[in-house]
Amino acid sequence: MKSQMKKGYGQHPIKSFQEMEMWQLIKTLWPYLLIHKARVVIAMLCLVGAIGVSLAMPWALKELVDGLQSDASKVLVIPLSFVLLYGAMRFGSVFLGELRDAVFSRVTESAMRKVGLEVFSHLHKLELDFHLSRQTGGISRDIDRGTNGINFMMRFMVFNILPTIVQLILIMLILFGAFNIWFSLITLVCVVAYIAFSVITTEWRTRFVKEANRLDSQSSTRAIDSLLNYETVKYFNNEAFETSQYDRNLKAWEQARVNNRLSLALLNSGQALIIGAGLTSLMYLAAKGVVDGSMTIGDLVMVNAYLLQLFVPLGALGFIYREIRRAMSDVENMFELLKRQPKVQDEEQAPVLKIDQAGVEFDQVNFAYQSERQILKSLSFKVQPGHKVAIVGPSGSGKSTIGRLLFRFYDLQSGCIRIDQQPIHQVQQLSLREQIGVVPQDTVLFNDTIWNNVAYGSPEASDEEIWRAIEMASLRTFVSALPDTVNTVVGERGLKVSGGEKQRIAIARVLLKNPPILLFDEATSALDSEAERSILQALAEIAKQRTTLVIAHRLSTIVDADNILVIDQGELVEQGTHEQLLQAAGHYARLWHMQQQASQRHRVEAPFTKVTETPTLTGK
Ligand SMILES: Nc1ncnc2c1ncn2[C@@H]1O[C@H](COP(=O)(O)OP(=O)(O)OP(=O)(O)O)[C@@H](O)[C@H]1O
Ligand SMILES: [Mg+2]
Repeated sequence: MKSQMKKGYGQHPIKSFQEMEMWQLIKTLWPYLLIHKARVVIAMLCLVGAIGVSLAMPWALKELVDGLQSDASKVLVIPLSFVLLYGAMRFGSVFLGELRDAVFSRVTESAMRKVGLEVFSHLHKLELDFHLSRQTGGISRDIDRGTNGINFMMRFMVFNILPTIVQLILIMLILFGAFNIWFSLITLVCVVAYIAFSVITTEWRTRFVKEANRLDSQSSTRAIDSLLNYETVKYFNNEAFETSQYDRNLKAWEQARVNNRLSLALLNSGQALIIGAGLTSLMYLAAKGVVDGSMTIGDLVMVNAYLLQLFVPLGALGFIYREIRRAMSDVENMFELLKRQPKVQDEEQAPVLKIDQAGVEFDQVNFAYQSERQILKSLSFKVQPGHKVAIVGPSGSGKSTIGRLLFRFYDLQSGCIRIDQQPIHQVQQLSLREQIGVVPQDTVLFNDTIWNNVAYGSPEASDEEIWRAIEMASLRTFVSALPDTVNTVVGERGLKVSGGEKQRIAIARVLLKNPPILLFDEATSALDSEAERSILQALAEIAKQRTTLVIAHRLSTIVDADNILVIDQGELVEQGTHEQLLQAAGHYARLWHMQQQASQRHRVEAPFTKVTETPTLTGK
């Protein structure tokens, strides 16, 4: 499985920002804004109100200061009203800001939820190969960062960048109207220099940010993989190795973060320098105006207040620009996942699969996971409705692959698989999969109770049905011995129950699903002879009315099959019933005799062996 890493999904590719332009992103996010039109409008009104109020504040302050200087009789009247007005405005602007956020949060949160859900369901639509190749830790990090990025972008684009620009223009107009052109000019130059510097430096910095992100994903992927392989790590005493691997990743990440921080310091200092220079020259101009009598003290206070009002959000603008860049690349990564087309797709208006008798046919099937290596070669066989067909052959010959193809996890290179004469690639995937029950070779369980794991086979099943499935899969004795019985939690990937117990839970789950076609891939390989016998008996009962494919290494479990297919290197080399194949004295006969001898030896040496020497079900 690791060999597929070279396909490159496991790595977190560095992409250029150009790949997704700002407008494209806005276009993607726009529909989410439109869902809550009224809220967006109210939030906008709050925003406009807040801008208006905050622009009027320096003016109130000026009137207040000038009022203090005017003649004594009015001193107690005029400033008092302005003091009150000033206080009210301050409260008003903060309150409107809060109101805006409160109203708008529904919009951003629901967008996060929608996008998160979309990505999640999309991930389930992607083909098996994608999931085998890509590492879960990295994906979940991408989704996390992506949804947070969306939240950030919506909030800040609408509420910071836009209003700051509007404020900037208005303040320049006010300064121009109230005083001479120099005030506006210096402000303009300052702002332009500030923005230019911020943009250029931020562009330069993005590579540090991206590098830090990439290393972050990489180290968490590695950490999760290592923790998932806890047992393996212990078996090989490789804790120190794992720690050093992780630390190597962390070290790179640390360096990237430090670089990131240093470049940030440069950015911040440069910005502060520009703002400082601007403020100094403007205050100098204003002070000169006061001295030569062209301006009042109130004017000076007002200029100062406007400038502060301008530069504070401008300072934030640098941060926001940077963050938006980051958010964009996060969101882009996530949408990259969304844009990925599933390889296995339904044809347009594909009909549902109609099961009549559940006959299965492989017709000249050619298949390769990677084009360089053919796995199945012109494989043809038929499974008559209601028959039990066994697939045997050496490890790696392609047996499990046959099952995966029948389930349409992959599409074929050529040839056709039909169920009741309907090619499976022409029917809806959901309808196909509904009709097939699979007990896979490596069962993985949800980290949930035994009960819920079994019930997963058919979430609507009644309690009695679930109990019946547990009974048929010979799980009854096991669960009743557990302190928590069916409510026992099976642990991560089902590792807290034994291999055989896990297989029986998987069998129970499929029995509950109760489909017309069953596929057992080494389904009883981990069971002892007795448990195997009782399950096989139960299964034989069930298989009577169903089409069954059984993949087995232990030939004694399939001697009763209606047909046995012997696969070698992706080719069908023999087929027939047990007796026919024994008579033919080919591959199968050789294997059978080898296994017989082995079990004979075991019986003498170890009476409690797992290998059964006698056919467990009466052959036909
Ligand atoms: N996703 C994959 N990508 C590439 N190659 C794969 C993939 N899955 C399986 N293979 C390869 O395809 C071949 C057939 O695999 P398959 O799982 O069908 O074997 P099998 O007959 O079931 O073997 P076993 O008896 O050991 O379970 C193997 O050589 C395997 O390495
Ligand atoms: Mg297999």
